[in-house]
Amino acid sequence: MDGQDTVTHDELREMERQYVLHSWTVQSRYNSPVVVTGDGASFVDMDGRRYLDFTSQAMCNNLGHQHPRVVKAIVEQAQKLCFIQGSWGCEPRAKLAKRLAEVVPMERAKTFFTNAGAESNENAIKFARWFTGKQKIITRYRSYHGASAGAMSLTGDPRRWAAEPGIPGVIRAFDAYCYRCSMGLEYPSCNLRCAQQIDEMIMYEGAANVAAVLIEPIVGTNGILVPPDGYLQRLREICDANQVLLICDEVMTGFGRTGSWFACQHWDVVPDIIVTAKGLTGALIPLGAVIVSGKIADAFENRMLYAGLTYLGHTLACAAGVAALEAYEQENLIEHSRVLGDRMLARLREMQTRHPSIGEVRGKGLFAAVELVKDRQSREPFVPFNVDSPVLGRIAREAKERGVIFMARWNYFVLAPPLVITETELDRALDMLDELLVYADAEVTSA
Ligand SMILES: Cc1ncc(COP(=O)(O)O)c(C=O)c1O
Repeated sequence: MDGQDTVTHDELREMERQYVLHSWTVQSRYNSPVVVTGDGASFVDMDGRRYLDFTSQAMCNNLGHQHPRVVKAIVEQAQKLCFIQGSWGCEPRAKLAKRLAEVVPMERAKTFFTNAGAESNENAIKFARWFTGKQKIITRYRSYHGASAGAMSLTGDPRRWAAEPGIPGVIRAFDAYCYRCSMGLEYPSCNLRCAQQIDEMIMYEGAANVAAVLIEPIVGTNGILVPPDGYLQRLREICDANQVLLICDEVMTGFGRTGSWFACQHWDVVPDIIVTAKGLTGALIPLGAVIVSGKIADAFENRMLYAGLTYLGHTLACAAGVAALEAYEQENLIEHSRVLGDRMLARLREMQTRHPSIGEVRGKGLFAAVELVKDRQSREPFVPFNVDSPVLGRIAREAKERGVIFMARWNYFVLAPPLVITETELDRALDMLDELLVYADAEVTSA
């Protein structure tokens, strides 16, 4: 008998503990079940326990588990050709790049494929630096751009601290976080001061030195910060006026997550570069992409593109990507994300009227946050910045025991289920959150 068939759940858990280094975790605290299969918005562990996943894993599993169209495409491609290096042509890569050029807002777009989000950001800033001949990159504090050396430096989130000093030339701005405006202002009378601040930063850093502004158009793990209307347009104007590129990191927000192909499209803003990964294949196989405008691509027509990865545009991954894009389109999943996202936000806003611990609900599409406060009047956060709350942890733990996975971080929950989730599943998870929020309400000092 195959030894693997006889291994127990406990033995596998122990092997994970003993032999694997787990990310963003104090290793001795790692204690997760072993997952064996999944379908749609849920997955199943070795004991047969089923979990409805309100996180899409790392907000990447947009098509849910084992999406049949993507699995079929991978199997069929595997039977023909698993891999051919990037210097050779291959059908899925060519088709995927063509399809991406059709769905992004830039004209004559071309794609440089990578394996993930961090690699995409690394290459995006390299391209921006070569194209402009300038060095500095402006990013924002509440951001995450990946865990490799450069991408970690672009990141504003405290996950960056352990990797500092990092690469030179990155300057961070404050965020478009209206609920906790860094300028102490209110929209719209603020006249988008947070965007104007970036203009001022470019002036002080020297427009002749700034290559790009790189942002998540809707901030992801740092709290689902949806910018106010006009913010992204203003950034576009500021970048144009200073000959600075606008790079949108759509690693998390791409492919229907927010109810459009890309989040920048909600405001009709055309970036110079879109960086993406995750939903590109629905996470069934790793794949990332740096999609550049025709203007940037032209610059490399007669000039060496000093960039490469052994597995760039991996054949199997691109086949998965082609099928994933077909699924988003033919199964109407982007519209589904918009419609169910509206339902989710409406339900969360109704919950806010009953739960004094909810300070703010925000989001777009199936991408939302519930931010908890100790005191609604003063907006005192439920826990200080960069501290995980035992109460949010307890809510997430009890939900997990009851079969629903929520992501709790600092003083907020991120809600981002796969786009294939059904209305019934959505309601089940929200009912559970509604019920469990009483633990947070009990800690509120004044309603
Ligand atoms: C906005 C954003 N950019 C980049 C990354 C990094 O992607 P990866 O983990 O695939 O390198 C992430 C990952 O969560 C992300 O959310």
